[in-house]
Amino acid sequence: MSITAPAPTLPTTTTCDGRQLAARAWVSAVADLLEPDEIVWCDGSADERARLTALMVAQGTLVPLDPAKRPGSYLARSDPSDVARVESRTFICSRERADAGPTNNWREPAEMRRELHGVVAGAMRGRTMYVVPFSMGPVGGPISQLGIEITDSPYVVVSMHVMTRVSREVLRLVDHGAPYVPAVHTVGAPLAPGQADVPWPCSPTKYIAHFPETREIWSTGSGYGGNALLGKKCFALRIASTMGRAEGWLAEHMLVIRATSPQGRDYHLAAAFPSACGKTNLAMLEPTMPGWTVETIGDDIAWMRPGPDGRLRAINPEAGFFGVAPGTGWSTNPTAMRTVARDTIFTNVALTDDGDVWWEGMTDEPPAHLVDWQGQDWTPGCGRPAAHPNARFTVAAAQCPTISPDWEAPEGVPIDAIVFGGRRASNVPLVAEAFSWEHGVLMGATVSSEQTAAAEGTVGELRRDPFAMLPFCGYNMADHWQHWLDVGASLDAERRPMIFQVNWFRKDSDGRFLWPGFGENSRVVEWLLRRTDLRTRPEGAGTERPDAEDDARPWGGPVPEARPTAVGRVPADGALDVTGLALAEGALAELFRVDPAAWRREADLTEEFFTTFGDRVPAALRRELAALRDRLSR
Ligand code: PEP
Ligand code: MN
Ligand code: NA
Repeated sequence: MSITAPAPTLPTTTTCDGRQLAARAWVSAVADLLEPDEIVWCDGSADERARLTALMVAQGTLVPLDPAKRPGSYLARSDPSDVARVESRTFICSRERADAGPTNNWREPAEMRRELHGVVAGAMRGRTMYVVPFSMGPVGGPISQLGIEITDSPYVVVSMHVMTRVSREVLRLVDHGAPYVPAVHTVGAPLAPGQADVPWPCSPTKYIAHFPETREIWSTGSGYGGNALLGKKCFALRIASTMGRAEGWLAEHMLVIRATSPQGRDYHLAAAFPSACGKTNLAMLEPTMPGWTVETIGDDIAWMRPGPDGRLRAINPEAGFFGVAPGTGWSTNPTAMRTVARDTIFTNVALTDDGDVWWEGMTDEPPAHLVDWQGQDWTPGCGRPAAHPNARFTVAAAQCPTISPDWEAPEGVPIDAIVFGGRRASNVPLVAEAFSWEHGVLMGATVSSEQTAAAEGTVGELRRDPFAMLPFCGYNMADHWQHWLDVGASLDAERRPMIFQVNWFRKDSDGRFLWPGFGENSRVVEWLLRRTDLRTRPEGAGTERPDAEDDARPWGGPVPEARPTAVGRVPADGALDVTGLALAEGALAELFRVDPAAWRREADLTEEFFTTFGDRVPAALRRELAALRDRLSR
């Protein structure tokens, strides 16, 4: 009888008695497998950032920009094959296939661990392994979570400094038993002795693997943001969404802002948009509505928990912005332009002759000569974009001139409105208020958008993107809808957020945008936020709020009126303030037009879409779809 040795597999932090392995033991097990030349424990200090930055400049990974133009800033050019998230190589490795659901690539965890073992064995040869302890959210905060990323990419370490809170304090907490998410990243490009490195090492063999039950992440082959900065999409969305489901909270692909009315009342809004649909623009909204101000809290991810007062409280778990550069300009998002004026890492933008950066949409006129994102000469009209369409800036949130003084409040801010958006040329109104929490969940479940450049795929195709979480939900999407219904039910029905759907992108029959967008979106924001006064304002109340306990500021006049349509409540005639807007003749009516035939087709497509989830679609959502059809036929 022969005894076969078990196939080698990835190390884990989960011990057989269910406790988590001490960080040091896990790190050395990973090092034994990946075989780095040396191990560096990171502390998040300015010194560390300076040292690694200098190293990357010497290696050609970073090009320093002219400090007189853009102090403390650098340009990275990725390998041309490594420019976006790779959804086809992103895996959810839950024990049951049905728990990953039809929208995720699934692999059986033990099988994936064996497969990956073979891929990553020796992957760090000739390289330094960095151990990066980080916190998502303020260190030790009640909504925050800890992680440790192991990586062989100094670009990742420096980016993690910006995007998360890297600190020794995290290790201290972990040493005292605090749970952490272990995340391993390698560029997958070992160096033979004497082999010269390249500026952007990566590998054609890519895996972005998540193990939701053991809360582990393994990523190999890519140095690009969403694939490699594991605190972001991998942890803060995919793993955190499964943690939230187990623990009664939400990890969402949402921006968070505070809008303050002319009367001084603070409202907080969380909004989900598919990638590259203007989330960063809304996060940095410059209101054109007189007297309103908007502060930025987060631009990409919100972690939201029911608070002791029955309200939903949100934090931005990140510490920086990893924003799309093209389309960001002085006329479209001046706040973002000011944010990236210094201490910013740019990836895959173009370089100007005087040592600054440029990308499509930054200015109306392109410079006469550039070096493009691939390092080649570029002139206007040469037929190639100067920046990659998914070029990015990585910058500390604290540098944003509109950052809220409370953006790091550990207990989060109370959310008044949840907004679902998408990029739709037709059908979806400029704004619609859900009839109920359940109807709002249907709005979230049916978000769809025209495909953008943020992921591989054909630009322009209509893509279903429920909750803007299609690539980011770490479990069965239909279970996510049920989880939203459950969280809604756990909140105080009088104080939970109201839910809305928006669409800035509706076009007329000649293909022209009907709505100016950008700062003018504050008109829509005003309407929907004032609608949320309905929840707490007593019938017939004046402009002074009688119960001044948590906000002594006066109301700003009557709640704006709404008119019901089959798809939700839209502003009544005159209720949306369009004073001074030069809208085309009939544009307003067209922005809110509900075409019953077209919506019946939408409802059919939704039913088809639901079919892919079988019996996991919550009954409440099927009821909401039936109710929608019923309203359409009246
Ligand atoms: C990313 O790809 O890292 C990222 C932030 O994604 P997106 O902008 O598509 O949400
Ligand atoms: Mn995003
Ligand atoms: Na992306």
